[in-house]
Amino acid sequence: MEITAIYPGTFDPITVGHMDVAERVSGMFDHIVLAIARNPSKKPFFTLEERTELATEILKPLSNVTVIPFDGLLVNVAAEAKASVIVRGLRAVSDFDYEMQIAGMNRKLNSDIETVFIAAAQEYAFLSSSIVREIASHQGDVSEFVHPMVLDAFKRKLG
Ligand code: COA
Repeated sequence: MEITAIYPGTFDPITVGHMDVAERVSGMFDHIVLAIARNPSKKPFFTLEERTELATEILKPLSNVTVIPFDGLLVNVAAEAKASVIVRGLRAVSDFDYEMQIAGMNRKLNSDIETVFIAAAQEYAFLSSSIVREIASHQGDVSEFVHPMVLDAFKRKLG
């Protein structure tokens, strides 16, 4: 039986930390759906369309990864995509409580879907999209943390 895993997030923007998780899980499951949440509560810097386009282009080399935008509940999107696994990256102990809460709630909403945690690579443990946005907005160098396409997207948006 083929297994599809869904890897959700806001990806505002996708970073090398996310790319590392996507690459590693692409070798573990048959299909990966990287699902980008509209997430208006986070007031994203990049539009949903921009975030989706960037992740789609950047992850093209991973042939079993598909990128989709989504609104609404993750478990519903997972069921639609026929995903039986939700993948979450864990960077540090500080992520743990929140992740356990979300995993517990998602399990309550749909007990057919299991959450699997992937330990983020040590060198990216400090990384987050908001830190990258903060540095970029002050003209700092984020080339180590994002794909060149994201660098270009920042240049276009920040002028
Ligand atoms: N490397 C680098 N950074 C990482 C990372 C990794 N491996 N894993 C996570 N991060 C960063 C993210 O970039 C994000 O940074 P930011 O807060 O600066 O933007 C931060 O860690 C938190 O990430 P995450 O917990 O994945 O939050 P998110 O906002 O990216 O995604 C959703 C949250 C979209 C998965 C969640 O809100 C959701 O499922 N929403 C749908 C609605 C729903 O179903 N809600 C009910 C759940 S019970």
